[in-house]
Amino acid sequence: MQTDTVLRTFIEYYEERGHRRVTGSTLLPPPGDPVLFTTSGMHPLTPYLEGRPHELGRRLVNVQRCLRTTDVDEVGDPTHLTVFEMLGTWSLGDYEGPQSLEWGYDLLTEGLGIDPGLLHATVFGGDEQVGPDRDSLRVWQERGVPVEQTVEDNWWSNGPAGPCGPDSEIFLWTGDTPPRSTPTGDERWVEVWNHVMMRHRRLPDGSLVPLPQRNVDTGLGVERLAGLLQGRTSVFECDVFTPWRERVPGLWHLDEPSSRLVCDHLRSAMVVVGDGVRPGNTGRGYVLRRLVRRVLTVLWRDDPTRRLGDLPGDLYGHTRDHFGQPTDPDDVRRVLLDEERRFRRLLERGRQVLARPRFRGPLGEEELHYLHDTHGLPRDLVLSLRPQDS
Ligand code: ALA
Repeated sequence: MQTDTVLRTFIEYYEERGHRRVTGSTLLPPPGDPVLFTTSGMHPLTPYLEGRPHELGRRLVNVQRCLRTTDVDEVGDPTHLTVFEMLGTWSLGDYEGPQSLEWGYDLLTEGLGIDPGLLHATVFGGDEQVGPDRDSLRVWQERGVPVEQTVEDNWWSNGPAGPCGPDSEIFLWTGDTPPRSTPTGDERWVEVWNHVMMRHRRLPDGSLVPLPQRNVDTGLGVERLAGLLQGRTSVFECDVFTPWRERVPGLWHLDEPSSRLVCDHLRSAMVVVGDGVRPGNTGRGYVLRRLVRRVLTVLWRDDPTRRLGDLPGDLYGHTRDHFGQPTDPDDVRRVLLDEERRFRRLLERGRQVLARPRFRGPLGEEELHYLHDTHGLPRDLVLSLRPQDS
């Protein structure tokens, strides 16, 4: 099943059940939001989860592009992406968690054809502030789906304060043996869909108060599910990445985790630039800079003559079209090539400065500050040139 079909099947299923489609927003949250990038489908809907009436009603569905820096160290494994798309559904004070789980189960098994015997669920087991989620437990038990109860893993929030709640996650078995163990016990259980019973607000002092309405917020990573439905255990093997898989390995010979990282970070950087961000030393610009520099560090590790300019131009167009961005792909390309030039110059200067006698010995905090303040050499860069000091 192609990704477009997954998206269509999902959205139509929820539209048939009274949900209205909201247009996803860019990666940039509205001004005043303390978070740099949109990290989940619920993020742009926060005011509505907190009680503001939504003009399209109480049942919503959408597909939202998201960026998660929290997962960036996992990128290179088969399932994590920096920029990804999330399908989401919301009940804004309308139906409750059990209904959401029942629809979710029916869509996965009947609509998308997943073998029910390959599913496992997890539910919130309760802590000192909130009791166990018995309603979700009952749904899974009635359907014969094995359930594991956890505490931290089944509590979802978008940050230290704000809307949050217990969640129930649905996992799919990806092993080549019959399913065994549980999601926390075997990583071949891959999470595909999270249903959050979002009815609390965490206050800055850590206490919880009820939200004005009892919501359900669900999120499903599109590339991950599409890959699994296409019989792949790696998101990078789903059809969305076909143009990348066809071009990158022929261009740069890399081991599998490095190749995944390069594809993920370049694609993510293109989307971030397409949403209007430019490289910089703070905030969003710094996230973008780190993505590009990480790619270059990996590429130049084996061969410093590799150049982003060799990347075929159609990958820019493909990414722009997939994410429906209005940007000119040539502009995005220019931004990445400028950043590459800047980084190459910085590295050259770094090598020259570090070759001076003063820096021959181990580098302490004082030297690292001096290199940064006087020569503009960031700590990370110095340490990457001098691994013995890190
Ligand atoms: N907001 C929830 C998540 O991102 C659904 O997992």
